[in-house]
Amino acid sequence: MQNQLFLKELTREAARRRTFAIISHPDAGKTTLTEKLLLFGGAIAMAGAIKAKKAGRHATSDWMAIERERGISVTSSVMNFEFNGHAVNLLDTPGHQDFSEDTYRVLTAADSALMVIDSAKGVETQTKKLMDVCRLRDTPIITFINKLDREGRSPLELLDDIEQSLGIEAAPLSWPIGMGKGFQGVYDLRQARLRFFEAADKGARPREGVIVQGLDDPALDELLGDAGAAGLRHDVELLDGAGYPFSMERYLTGKQTPVFFGSAINNFGVRELLEAVVDLAPGPRPRAAAPREISPLEEEFTGLVFKVQANMDAAHRDRVAFVRICSGRFNRGMKLRHHRLGKDIKASNAILFMAQERSGVEEAWPGDIIGIPNHGTLNVGDSLSTGEPLKFLGIPHFAPEHFRRVLLKNPFKAKQLDKGLTQLSEEGAIQFFRPINGGGMLLGAVGALQFEVIAQRLASEYDVDVDLVGTKFNAARWLFAESKEALDKLVHEESDALATDAGGHRVMLFTSDWMMERTVERWKSIRFEATRECA
Ligand code: G4P
Repeated sequence: MQNQLFLKELTREAARRRTFAIISHPDAGKTTLTEKLLLFGGAIAMAGAIKAKKAGRHATSDWMAIERERGISVTSSVMNFEFNGHAVNLLDTPGHQDFSEDTYRVLTAADSALMVIDSAKGVETQTKKLMDVCRLRDTPIITFINKLDREGRSPLELLDDIEQSLGIEAAPLSWPIGMGKGFQGVYDLRQARLRFFEAADKGARPREGVIVQGLDDPALDELLGDAGAAGLRHDVELLDGAGYPFSMERYLTGKQTPVFFGSAINNFGVRELLEAVVDLAPGPRPRAAAPREISPLEEEFTGLVFKVQANMDAAHRDRVAFVRICSGRFNRGMKLRHHRLGKDIKASNAILFMAQERSGVEEAWPGDIIGIPNHGTLNVGDSLSTGEPLKFLGIPHFAPEHFRRVLLKNPFKAKQLDKGLTQLSEEGAIQFFRPINGGGMLLGAVGALQFEVIAQRLASEYDVDVDLVGTKFNAARWLFAESKEALDKLVHEESDALATDAGGHRVMLFTSDWMMERTVERWKSIRFEATRECA
């Protein structure tokens, strides 16, 4: 009986979770939108809190500032709030200069993504990269086209851009009325209604606007004028005939993205967006694991570590592991099996992330993210549970695009360097490679700021001074082959471009896209992979 009650509660709690990551190219408006979403969710009382932190982050780039920011991002990178009966977990993907593997991995912990696009710029480079990561798991994506209060590209052009540049169908669920100075609001195609908003004062809580129900509502002509109303009716008619109709099935399988228009800073279209996220976005889904897939509704607790954040307090060297709950219920003090190490850990001081602070967690459900402070026992990719042994899959290393050669200033510190790099790579902060030919060590990262962080952390945490110098490489691929002979042949012929990673896996390094294409073409029996599962 008690068990049945528990299962009922588990089903209810899992079903109301919405765990999604916000992705965008820098400056598209991710921070502004996040803040508006938090305002709607009542998680912050006034705008400005998040932006102020961001401003501080840009002011200086010395190590202390990065450290401070890391402390801040621990609290602001996972935010949870209630909206319309749903428990929303919003994961911020670090963007900007600190673009790193973390940015990608956060996506692997989310059930869906919210993509922000600047209406004047359309799809940009980082959007494309993040989209590639979404494609790995067919993550469902909702798109928000932002800054309609400015002159930008036409809505149809933007939809076309999404389809061409990202290879995904774009199905508008809202439609802008005018743009720039003539922007009046957005028509919600899903609910067939129009909300007029007054541009919100900065810092104010969003206000409800006038609601017009359906395109036949005479209030529409009154509010938009005859020409404006006729224009909207014409656009909607056109869309009915020409655009992709929204398909839940295609959205959930990552083939189609529902598109919303608005202006984050003015709160236009943000409520429609949030309503759509809780209505359309999937709750926790089954997760790939070895030896079997895990359903969120299983009784036993399971969770996976997708991010590790070194704490601000260098003296204690503690770290917070971000754990995505995949099934069951988490209770404070629970004993969890750490399957990689084959030992139990007690999660008595786990924390739940709020918008502006951390708070102790009593219980948490599938889809929630908890933080477990530890001294290095938990690494990215680790699996925890109260039941059978398991290993979650789908938390990969991503092929670096930037490389540096490590020059040790004091040769007597080689051991510390080794230790530092091993630990930092386990934490997921950097990848390192040992070239097969010649000594030395190469560092690889997906964002160049990582090198600055690593050099400073090596100095402050391991007392090792290094110079990191540029190399000719700009891409890496992990090698997999059915036949050992083929691999041996490649190793023999291409040894100058080969290295092993921290886990001893073979990696090939390239100096250009053209080189990579040529090599892939030549060695047909070998797979060149851009990701590798974390150990
Ligand atoms: P990001 O996190 O994606 O990098 O973007 P962020 O929210 O910081 O926004 C980037 C810039 O775009 C900011 O201007 C922000 O105010 C502006 N912005 C965001 N949403 C809208 C919108 O709907 N309309 C218009 N016109 N601008 C928008 P900034 O000048 O860099 O910063 P600030 O001085 O305004 O804070």
